[in-house]
Amino acid sequence: MSGRAIADAIIEAPVVTSFTRLGYQARRRLDGWTPLDGYDLTGRVVVLTGATSGLGYAAADQLARCGATVVLVGRSAARNEGVVAELIAQTGNPSITQVAADMGDYQQVRNLADRVLTDHERLDVLVHNAGALDAEHHTAPDGTEGTVASQVVGPFLLTTLLLDRLATSAPSRVLTMSSGGMYAAGLTVTELEMTPETYRGAEQYARAKRAQVTLNEMWAERYGQLGIRFHALHPGWADTPGVDASLPTFSKVMGPLLRTPEQGADTLVWLAADDTPLASNGEFWLDRRLRSIHKLPTTKRTDTAERRAQLWDWVAETAGAVPHVARP
Ligand SMILES: NC(=O)c1ccc[n+]([C@@H]2O[C@H](COP(=O)([O-])OP(=O)(O)OC[C@H]3O[C@@H](n4cnc5c(N)ncnc54)[C@H](OP(=O)(O)O)[C@@H]3O)[C@@H](O)[C@H]2O)c1
Repeated sequence: MSGRAIADAIIEAPVVTSFTRLGYQARRRLDGWTPLDGYDLTGRVVVLTGATSGLGYAAADQLARCGATVVLVGRSAARNEGVVAELIAQTGNPSITQVAADMGDYQQVRNLADRVLTDHERLDVLVHNAGALDAEHHTAPDGTEGTVASQVVGPFLLTTLLLDRLATSAPSRVLTMSSGGMYAAGLTVTELEMTPETYRGAEQYARAKRAQVTLNEMWAERYGQLGIRFHALHPGWADTPGVDASLPTFSKVMGPLLRTPEQGADTLVWLAADDTPLASNGEFWLDRRLRSIHKLPTTKRTDTAERRAQLWDWVAETAGAVPHVARP
């Protein structure tokens, strides 16, 4: 183990150093990170969900500064338009557009995919970043629990519908913003959706985020040969409107230790831009380094091949779409 790897392991052990800005700052210095402004993404098309706020907004801003063509996705066209105008003004990049879609509404996800396919001949990076920890139970139009619909099924459907375009644009990337919260949750299919009676927002969120990182590995195993790289990541703990709204006490207590949205979005932009992630597939990242998807033996025990296959089948059935590619 190199000195840098040992230092990284020491930072990683307690989550308070790893997930806060302390972890970000120490790793950036240790590993001598390439500044994000140094990447030229001219000609690359990036579709980014959850781009109107927090981490997605910071990522969109940085990707636009690097010259990418950016398609922003959020639920309100008016809000999206405001963000597009703001980002064009502050980055000087005119190639920013928006599509309104609720990722938990599968018809809207289908419309979003159609728009992307019509408007863009290539798709270099698809980023599933939209997400929220909802205090109250809600259901999506098809009756699926809302967190699972918008963060597991909707993204699966969007990847499925864009798979061909990603394949013809290879080497392309599909990135999924998960959460360190998933370390607490095992893999479950039968109890993936909590009921109104059993609902606890943090628990539902962790189960959905666990499903995301599992599916990320499965996409890589099943479709990596198309030249598409699938990577999941977590941002640490960042000070965003989402965290403020869903975890106000945590946000207040952790205040100065939280990462800025730009720090939280750093690895997302790096995974979209750097060549290093092209050398692997199906990985889970924090601060530009590979991380294990399990920290606890109890969650590892739940992660069986049989349950994984069950998860894939349930999500595909709920999405109403089985991934396939037009060409071999
Ligand atoms: N901040 C952190 O410390 C942290 C930690 C771990 C993981 N994360 C993850 O990072 C991602 C971004 O979080 P954030 O902290 O930046 O939150 P945020 O400030 O609340 O931003 C969330 C974004 O997602 C969009 N969104 C939410 N639900 C959506 C839906 N159903 N369909 C389409 N868009 C939707 C919102 O857009 P509109 O409201 O305009 O639709 C907004 O742009 C999430 O996946 C979150 O779970 C964040």
